[in-house]
Amino acid sequence: MTDERNMEELEALDLANFLHASSDIKGHATGVTPTRVIETTKGVYITDQKGRTSLDAFAGLYCVNIGYGRTEVADAISEQAHKLAFYHSYVGHGTEVSIRLAAKIIELAQDHMSRVYFGLSGSDANETNIKLIWYINNVLGRPEKKKIISRDRGYHGSGLMTGSLTGLPLFHKAFDLPFDQVLHTQCPHYWKYAEDGQTELEFSKSCADKLEQMILAEDPDTVAAFIGEPLLGTGGLIPPPEGYWAEIQKVLTKYDVMLIADEVVTGFGRLGCWFGSDYYGMKPDIITVAKGLTSAYAPLSASILSERVVEILDKGSDTFGPLVHGWTYSAHPVCAAAGLANLNVLEGDNMIENVRTVGANFKINFGQRFQIIQWSVKFVVTVCWQRLNSLLTGKQKHSLIRV
Ligand SMILES: Cc1ncc(COP(=O)(O)O)c(C=O)c1O
Repeated sequence: MTDERNMEELEALDLANFLHASSDIKGHATGVTPTRVIETTKGVYITDQKGRTSLDAFAGLYCVNIGYGRTEVADAISEQAHKLAFYHSYVGHGTEVSIRLAAKIIELAQDHMSRVYFGLSGSDANETNIKLIWYINNVLGRPEKKKIISRDRGYHGSGLMTGSLTGLPLFHKAFDLPFDQVLHTQCPHYWKYAEDGQTELEFSKSCADKLEQMILAEDPDTVAAFIGEPLLGTGGLIPPPEGYWAEIQKVLTKYDVMLIADEVVTGFGRLGCWFGSDYYGMKPDIITVAKGLTSAYAPLSASILSERVVEILDKGSDTFGPLVHGWTYSAHPVCAAAGLANLNVLEGDNMIENVRTVGANFKINFGQRFQIIQWSVKFVVTVCWQRLNSLLTGKQKHSLIRV
């Protein structure tokens, strides 16, 4: 725990100097919204500067898949930083760790995945993906095929293109987004949007129908890709209804629209499989991963590209020469070392199997407890209503009902 004087100094420095992500700027600077400085972490717990420890059920921003304080990862980062803190990946350069990590990701991914491009965040990986999709259609001589369909309530980052893909108005309103090339289709939230009596499968088919109508209305020759999280995360933790991905993929195949599975959250074990695409039987052209790739011990993302994509990129070399796209820190060796060590922990500790076991128990127990809460609330409301009813006169009851 930090002493009082240091704490006050830190808070003052914070308010004066630090512009926080997704925060109320004025509220923070004036101290109206609270500052919380996290000091230490261990396993699934975080402790702040005031000595308050909390269970971090959200795992940071659902990114610390292996938990905090794994020395294997910290040691790998340290060793790599001492041996080779940086070299870039431009024009054919690389480092052993980034090469080995790419190979490991391809080993874990579906058989049709073939190459990995590294970035630093989920947002920049999705920017890369859209650039590649546009490039691919230029290579294929289809310069009009550039529109990207995302979903209402989808989350794909907060850059310019990725903020446009994100289907939450809050991310658009003050930023002149979304871009014209981006469209949003039905959010697959069965409980909220299904019609009365509609089964999950019927609702999935209606989502696919809406997607098809949108593609036809726009002209299939202008629609390049569909991007979706296997299970919607930031937009409300919404699992797809039964048959959803099968129905959506039928439409995408029919109109030659590529599929980007945004697995920034679902990648690396969160659903009890290495990838959410495996869990839902998706066959994406590109997979976006970030968070769980290093469990956030260092910033790293990746675009996992299918054979089909890579074949077209190969052709692009003949048409356009080198693929001129890169970030200084693409495939950063320190981050790659964190990634390799993190995947070792996930495998070595059978964490993905553990997700299946614990997840199943959690679902049963949570369901039972939730039902008890539901019954209790219903009981209290009924008793209160009866009591109130017995106390009110006929006229009072009438006006209460009108309210
Ligand atoms: C599905 C998904 N895609 C992309 C992103 C953006 O990742 P980042 O915040 O690393 O840019 C997120 C972040 O939460 C996400 O959940």
